[in-house]
Amino acid sequence: MSSSRDKLMKEYATDQIVVEWEPRLCSHSHNCVRSLPQVFDDSRRPWVKVDAATADEVEAAVELCPSGALRTRRIGAPPIKREQPLEVCASANGPLLVSGSVRILDADGAVLYEGEKAALCRCGRSGNKPFCDGTHKEVGFRG
Ligand code: FES
Repeated sequence: MSSSRDKLMKEYATDQIVVEWEPRLCSHSHNCVRSLPQVFDDSRRPWVKVDAATADEVEAAVELCPSGALRTRRIGAPPIKREQPLEVCASANGPLLVSGSVRILDADGAVLYEGEKAALCRCGRSGNKPFCDGTHKEVGFRG
């Protein structure tokens, strides 16, 4: 069963770049906030001010997002197709970080997500399985 939250995606744009944010995928690593706080500030609304840095800076910060919740597109440029082998990395005390072309299915075979990155829960406590929602930090997961 899906809800409106499942499909929620927000966009923040300038005339050069669009930042897409899909909250259901966010593992709350805060890499974006640490990397470019003038653009990404989760204590502010809207939390993304895409025009507070250059498109290159925004793109570099979004590249640090481990979950695929943040993505960018350049206006007027063809999408970049990366040929990256699928990798799964058990992060220190956190989720399984998947990179490469990935399709996540539910138990019935329905596609939950298709993209280039994902953070999958391995602590067993996420409220958004199979995705990590950052709960591992609250419960002190070690592994
Ligand atoms: S690993 Fe992040 S919530 Fe389980």
